[in-house]
Amino acid sequence: MTQNKTAIILAAGKGTRMKSDDPKVLCEVLFKPMINWVIDACNDAGINKICAVTGYGSSRVEAVLPDGISIALQQEQRGTGHAVMMAREFLEQNLGGDVIVLCGDAPFMDAQTIENAYNQHREQQNAITVITARLDNPTGYGRIVRNRYGIKRIVEQKDATSSELVINEVNSGAYWFNVAYLLDVLFDVDDQNSQGEYYLPDTIALTIAKGRKVGAYVSDNPDVILGANSRRDLCGLNRIANERVVDTHFDNGVEFVTLDGILISPEAVIGKGTTILPGTIIRGATVIGEGCTIGPNSVIVDSTFQNNVAFNASQCYNSIIENNATVGPFCHIRPNSVLKEGVHLGDFVEIKNSTIGNDSHVSHLTYVGDSDVGRRVNFGCGVVTVNYNGISKARCTIGDDAFIGCNTNLVAPVKVGRFAYTAAGSTITEDVPDESLAIARARQTNKEQFTKYQRNR
Ligand code: UD1
Ligand code: CA
Repeated sequence: MTQNKTAIILAAGKGTRMKSDDPKVLCEVLFKPMINWVIDACNDAGINKICAVTGYGSSRVEAVLPDGISIALQQEQRGTGHAVMMAREFLEQNLGGDVIVLCGDAPFMDAQTIENAYNQHREQQNAITVITARLDNPTGYGRIVRNRYGIKRIVEQKDATSSELVINEVNSGAYWFNVAYLLDVLFDVDDQNSQGEYYLPDTIALTIAKGRKVGAYVSDNPDVILGANSRRDLCGLNRIANERVVDTHFDNGVEFVTLDGILISPEAVIGKGTTILPGTIIRGATVIGEGCTIGPNSVIVDSTFQNNVAFNASQCYNSIIENNATVGPFCHIRPNSVLKEGVHLGDFVEIKNSTIGNDSHVSHLTYVGDSDVGRRVNFGCGVVTVNYNGISKARCTIGDDAFIGCNTNLVAPVKVGRFAYTAAGSTITEDVPDESLAIARARQTNKEQFTKYQRNR
């Protein structure tokens, strides 16, 4: 029999406890919105028919969803049961199978747990299988109330008696439902509780009352169920996610002297023998090679570094740095730049949308934008490519082995030839032929005895 598995992700809530104007599911764990973690887990579990229930800030939530996800709108947030009702059309289109309902604010639910719970759900032929875990601190979660036959009902923190509050088995907020059955039981849920909401977990007791089978899949890793309702929770999830990421890098032979101020996205790849120093943030699909030293206090976003790169107290966005390059301190490498092998950038250098050829040196206080720089070029201190005339940008081209004198302005579009020199302080507006020296500055005049005249005035 072909499996018909679908998912509904609840993402309509404002997240009042976050005290933010943004929808809660957009809060990021390691730079990825929580809802995208949940979607990735579904995809990893082979579930690609997904419906997101959005409401508060729906257009902002929909903007981060990948293509192909169905949307159901919940205008008013009247509880998790009510939210699932909004996905009725989606459920009716998928009647023959099972659906997993997931919370958009619980990012660690993983494919393995989803699959294990599904297998148990099918084997036991349950109408509902809820995913649970035992937590040292169950505060805030719905509690799993059992009797000797198994799970009996779920009671929310706010509705629980003192003896129910000590139960440490909690509801993950994720459940497999038989789709046809879910459509049936949903309409029996009422809002008679302390919050006046339609609670999805109430389907458990209703199902038992109907004489249908309910099961609980108890996850042996309690982390998978953690949700974030507050900023404090969110910080805790970031810490757990980051420790997990760093752990894989330890296994791969990456050195971290300390973890202070270090954040690494789950997609990043780092080679063995590379050292990551404190205060380093590595985001997006960054790839860093072997034997590099990164940090301290650096930011690298969606970039590729080859091997033995030294990158000190600098920032790099959407760019490529090749073998043996040294960068920093205090450089800013902006998108679409390539530093070829052996390039040296010193302090306070900004590179934008430019290629710097092999073994070229840009040692101090220089801006290179929209430029193609050859090999073994030397930039003196304080060079500026004047790439913008207030209306449009233009490029500079600098040939191999050129020497750009200190405080040169290269007014683009302009070309400096191979082995050409520019004199210090020149403002270069015309091309410089190969092997020539361009001097473009006023000649010096000395006013002799100047101070004597000044004193006698
Ligand atoms: C819920 C469960 C609780 C469980 C916990 C796990 C209920 C009543 N309680 O509590 O048993 O332990 O999750 O994390 O379900 N949402 C909507 N529309 C709404 C209300 C909520 O889409 O009308 C969404 C939220 O955006 C969120 C998810 O549903 O992504 C869970 O809602 P939330 O209010 O955070 O429920 P909890 O109090 O955490
Ligand atoms: Ca929650």
